[in-house]
Amino acid sequence: MCPEQQSQLINLHPPAADMRRLVVAGMERHPRQLPAWLLYDAEGSRLFEAICEQPEYGLTRTETALLQARAPELAAALGPGVLVEFGAGSARKVGPLLEALGPPAYVALDISPHHLEVACRELQARHPTVPVLGICCDYSQLQQLPDHSLLRGERRLGFYPGSSIGNFSPVEASLLLAQLRGLLGPGARLLIGIDQPKQVTRLEAAYNDAAGVSAAFARNLLVRLNRDLAGNFDPQAFSYSARWQPEHSRIAMALVSRSAQSVQLAGRSWNFSPGEELITEYSFKYTPEAFLALASSAGWQGAGRWSDPRHDLSLHLLVTPDS
Ligand code: AVI
Repeated sequence: MCPEQQSQLINLHPPAADMRRLVVAGMERHPRQLPAWLLYDAEGSRLFEAICEQPEYGLTRTETALLQARAPELAAALGPGVLVEFGAGSARKVGPLLEALGPPAYVALDISPHHLEVACRELQARHPTVPVLGICCDYSQLQQLPDHSLLRGERRLGFYPGSSIGNFSPVEASLLLAQLRGLLGPGARLLIGIDQPKQVTRLEAAYNDAAGVSAAFARNLLVRLNRDLAGNFDPQAFSYSARWQPEHSRIAMALVSRSAQSVQLAGRSWNFSPGEELITEYSFKYTPEAFLALASSAGWQGAGRWSDPRHDLSLHLLVTPDS
């Protein structure tokens, strides 16, 4: 029996200078678009948790139920290794897998330091014998995992739930999948949750809930920019829109300027015309076939797929040719 463990945390959060550079580059794009990870400051992470509980947003509930129902099968298909979760957030989904796998260690990567710390502490309390390590980072920018004893010598199993890869464009997603293959190393396996296209009314409602939590989540980005980059956005001067764009198989989420206005941000002045959009996020949806084509462009092969009864989403098991 392993001794009881205490969770550890490594903070590699991108420095403020990186944030300024990325925001200025995003504000100079047409249409303006900011990196989705900026949505997840402490308040953004809290609001995202609240989105996951809205009746219109079924993704989290459906995926959690699927993981619970199929955990022993998924663990058998993954085999032994250190479990590395990407975009762990509050790490609520990994419990059944941890129980079924009993891995030599669990490593959680996420951009939100506060949420990660709380999640690792809670998870450690529930799984006292599994060593837990949190790494706060923008994992899409990470070239290699830190050299840490928990990551040495063991095969690594990636877990990337929540269809979060859908918040990257297909080109970025392919690069990220290739990067995850490199981070995980030889013999890696990756279990990844992918949301599928469905009825437009369901899709649009999921991203524009009646309680207004999705809108608050998007507007919080402006509050964060005001705080971190000396901005003076009036969040109420922007309306929120979420629409399905079938030609791209994605939901586009945007803050739309209600009038002509000028905003200070990062030491510069930015003009918005009435109706001009600031894209806060895209959420791409993939059929199983489209996702497997994307994965194969990044050097992964499909080795299994599990879906919910309505076929709203899939958990794909990806393997490398050397595994
Ligand atoms: C994290 N990610 C998968 C969510 C999604 O469904 O695209 C982010 C989100 N934004 C608003 N609602 C949900």
